[in-house]
Amino acid sequence: MSEVYDVCVIGSGPGGYVAAIRSAQLGMKTAIIEREWLGGVCLNVGCIPSKAMITAGHFLHKMQHDGKSMGFTVGKIDFDMKQLKTWKQSVCDKMSGGVSQLLKGNKVDIIMGVADFKNSGEITVQTKEGPKAVKAKNFIVATGSRPIDIPGFQADETDVLSSTGALDLEEVPKNLVVIGGGYIGLEISSYMKNLGAEVVVLEASDALLKGMADPECVQVVARKLKKNGVTVHLNAFAKSWKKSGKSLEVTAEVKGKMETFKADKVLLTVGRKPNSDEMNFKAAGVKVDSKGFIEVNPQRKTSAPGIYAIGDIAGQPMLAHKASHEGVMVAEVIACQNRVYDAKTVPAVIFVDPEIASAGMTEEECKAAGYTDLKVGKFPFGANGRAVSMMHTDGFVKMIADANNNVLLGVHIVGPEASNLISEAALAIEMGATLEDLALTIHPHPTLGETMMEAAEATLGHAIHIIQKPLAKGGKSGASARA
Ligand code: NAI
Repeated sequence: MSEVYDVCVIGSGPGGYVAAIRSAQLGMKTAIIEREWLGGVCLNVGCIPSKAMITAGHFLHKMQHDGKSMGFTVGKIDFDMKQLKTWKQSVCDKMSGGVSQLLKGNKVDIIMGVADFKNSGEITVQTKEGPKAVKAKNFIVATGSRPIDIPGFQADETDVLSSTGALDLEEVPKNLVVIGGGYIGLEISSYMKNLGAEVVVLEASDALLKGMADPECVQVVARKLKKNGVTVHLNAFAKSWKKSGKSLEVTAEVKGKMETFKADKVLLTVGRKPNSDEMNFKAAGVKVDSKGFIEVNPQRKTSAPGIYAIGDIAGQPMLAHKASHEGVMVAEVIACQNRVYDAKTVPAVIFVDPEIASAGMTEEECKAAGYTDLKVGKFPFGANGRAVSMMHTDGFVKMIADANNNVLLGVHIVGPEASNLISEAALAIEMGATLEDLALTIHPHPTLGETMMEAAEATLGHAIHIIQKPLAKGGKSGASARA
């Protein structure tokens, strides 16, 4: 008779592999099933390779633009996209290899193959050697999401690319048309422009990153995209494409008028959908909601006893770190450690230029949640010594607090290292910190981190390195950067 695992995790992305390691740490006999690559989309064709490409794009941009004022003379820079691809792949391989070592080191059985539920206690895995039955007392489904298409556009990874195809190009396209000005579209647009492509973004709504970030933060990025030569069309609905000689032609309805755009490649980044139409969930009694997410409770239990779901397939936000958090939690729930998902905030980062990062609520969300009396303050990176010495002065840190008790409700950063700075905000919000907690914490000088302290001071009305008007009633501070 085949062995019955305590825990079988399906999918080895940042949700699945973390869940498997934590399960094994807790003494449970654990297996993980993966159909394609250890580390999932994140490590192989998502977060990690895109950040490698973004790093390369920044590096080239810096050499070309920033060196001169520091006294560097930079000659013609030769750049080999094939070599960049090889380096990017080495980064992914290192990370994926690390996951393999961690799983093996924790004695997790790795089974490569495609899983389908037979019933709530058993899956069949199609492996290279043939079908294999795997039984477990608990299953954790962490099978993620995939890009969606729109009418007229289907990613073929030759002419019309998904993010996966874009990350695998061996040549920088001369003209790139990006459909969708969301997370992925703008991250890829930023680095492609830095690497030399002419980029046009077609975004259906009336703003970039609509509903995904603080609108004031988005304005800073929109200005920088324009300055760097990326063309953005809002209210632009991509309709169709065709081959035109050696290149492509994209037709879109822009503000009600039909327009055509020349392209060598088209990038389709209009969202992702959960992979819940696979794996025969019905046979296991796992319910899926109208948006395609598996229905889960706060312990990430599904409608089928003993089956849990985490990550992109279990609901928004579709972010790797939320999946990992859920992975640890579910392993601890199974091990009877009485855990529940009670995070106050899932910080989010958009790796555009400059980076946008947020934790907690926007002003709009605070109002919708019933906070009528808010204090809002901002501190600009232009008034921070480290930012000036790094030549990265675009952007600000914005804080929102409840004016009745100064409890921090939201932090929105646009600027250098926003991705790293936001962790302090996430901790502060989790701890229920007040503006005073942040303002009275000594932050080392000279660091970008001082902007967090000074933004808290600005929200209280007394930042040192900007001239502030007295706080208006209702709390809005009238901060202006020191000359
Ligand atoms: P998205 O939901 O971020 O953006 C899609 C955009 O496409 C929207 O702005 C939408 O208005 C637009 N759109 C839809 N149909 C269109 C049409 N016909 N013509 C023009 N525009 C159209 O989706 P995206 O960028 O594909 O990212 C998917 C998810 O992946 C994100 O929601 C995020 O959760 C995750 N992600 C996270 C990253 C991070 O944490 N840094 C990086 C990349 C992705």
